[in-house]
Amino acid sequence: MMLADYLRLERALTGTKIVCAEGDCGACSVLRAFPLSGSLFLPINSCVIRVAQLDGSSIVTVDGLRDGKLTPIQDAIVRCHGSQCGYCTPGFVITLTGLVEKRLRSDASRARLEPKEIKNALTGNLCRCTGYQPIVEAAVSVPLSECVSLEERFFPKTRQTELRKILKTPLALASPEPGGFSLHAPTRLADAARLLARDPDARLIGAGTDLGVLHNKGKSGGGTRFVSLHLIPELYRIRRSGRGRLWVGARVTLSELRTALKNRIPEFARFLDLFASPQIKNVATLIGNVGNASPIADTPPFLLVARATVRLLGPKGGRSVPLEEFYLGYRQTAARRGELILAIEFDLPSASERLALYKVSQRKDLDISGVNAAFRVKKGARGTQAIQEIRIAMGGVAAVPLRLRKTESFLAGKALDPETARQALEILQSEINPISDLRGSAAYRRVLAENLFLRFAREQSGESRP
Ligand SMILES: Cc1cc2nc3c(=O)[nH]c(=O)nc-3n(C[C@H](O)[C@H](O)[C@H](O)COP(=O)(O)OP(=O)(O)OC[C@H]3O[C@@H](n4cnc5c(N)ncnc54)[C@H](O)[C@@H]3O)c2cc1C
Ligand code: FES
Ligand code: FES
Repeated sequence: MMLADYLRLERALTGTKIVCAEGDCGACSVLRAFPLSGSLFLPINSCVIRVAQLDGSSIVTVDGLRDGKLTPIQDAIVRCHGSQCGYCTPGFVITLTGLVEKRLRSDASRARLEPKEIKNALTGNLCRCTGYQPIVEAAVSVPLSECVSLEERFFPKTRQTELRKILKTPLALASPEPGGFSLHAPTRLADAARLLARDPDARLIGAGTDLGVLHNKGKSGGGTRFVSLHLIPELYRIRRSGRGRLWVGARVTLSELRTALKNRIPEFARFLDLFASPQIKNVATLIGNVGNASPIADTPPFLLVARATVRLLGPKGGRSVPLEEFYLGYRQTAARRGELILAIEFDLPSASERLALYKVSQRKDLDISGVNAAFRVKKGARGTQAIQEIRIAMGGVAAVPLRLRKTESFLAGKALDPETARQALEILQSEINPISDLRGSAAYRRVLAENLFLRFAREQSGESRP
């Protein structure tokens, strides 16, 4: 059962609303703290996450926030007329409460929230009647000194210790009906490998943001037998591995990755701001984005130019596959039956390289790409404009995320002048083979791919990003 349904139907906690059931509107937002990833309460979408995946989590819903009187955020929404039909309001209250909590933990020195951070935090909440201005004004008006931390109210150290004990116990749930739902969450990697050896067709589940949507739409691709790695502490790690490489475990969320790479790969951190919403990124994993094998997933182009390697573990032990060889065809990967992705390893681009990442979608926030692209370029010796080495990858231009090797070879050693760019575009067009679907026709995608290349070329020659 999805958490939103559980809250409403089993616990009669109807403050949490369901509108889209696809992670798109934020009406179902709740706050979740999980000791293995830091214990800070973060907003998540309860409509696309199963209760079973939340074993060991502490959840605060809007029904729990009120403590005799409205919280400062709730009170401000009333004062500033931030609600009309009210259906979206619990979701906004939860997201803003999460933002206050983050601020209380990280930087309590400023007295109020600022409009920019409020707008960024609210990209995963839609309101169809009030409009956003009164909601933003309400959030700005709240004196942070009047807010009590959720951790203090709901997650004292004794409770955290209790949960940590629970987290050491593997979880095994199975419906008695044949072919019914089952979910196993082992606490050790070796046990995960054993479980998959016994049932190689069980589906690995990360946060389930892709799988949860399939389930809600009644699509069978969502699966019924799952193995979750959420109780395995070592998979929450991000660490340096080898020279200039980073190892990212299967349970690292996109929000955690953004924080870790903010200073080391600012371009990737900026790009992640265009990925889904905070609620989705607070649970969704990098490995799920790779494992989903969608040709328009946003992280693979970056990972391809960063020479990523997929670390797999299966019944016959571990092995590594370069990401470039991992995608075999539309939604097909080189992972064998019973293999799980343990981690992804990739280069941290050096100071002498330039990284540029782009995404074109129908709206800026919370939308899937039509075409996305990554460029990693090393310039020649000082004073020369020649490109020493270049890596280019694009999504949405073929059945798999694609590295454009012929275009790269043509550009190596050349300066990117208008004539070179024109010739490169001819080669680029010969390398791609986009499809037509609801996000755009093949012809439109060809234009997008070309325009992204031209934009990169202009930025290379010093033009600033519009
Ligand atoms: C509202 C919304 C907005 C979104 N926006 C974007 C966006 O802007 N850009 C984008 O690229 N995607 C987007 N997505 C898609 C999705 O959120 C991402 O692909 C996310 O990274 C998936 O991570 P997850 O942990 O939830 O994966 P899951 O749904 O748990 O899994 C996805 C796939 O990976 C497999 N998998 C998971 N973990 C492993 C493992 N350890 N080993 C092997 N296989 C594994 C699963 O079996 C499944 O096939 C969006 C989704 C939603 C619902
Ligand atoms: S109901 Fe819309 S995001 Fe969950
Ligand atoms: S107040 Fe009606 S949807 Fe926001």
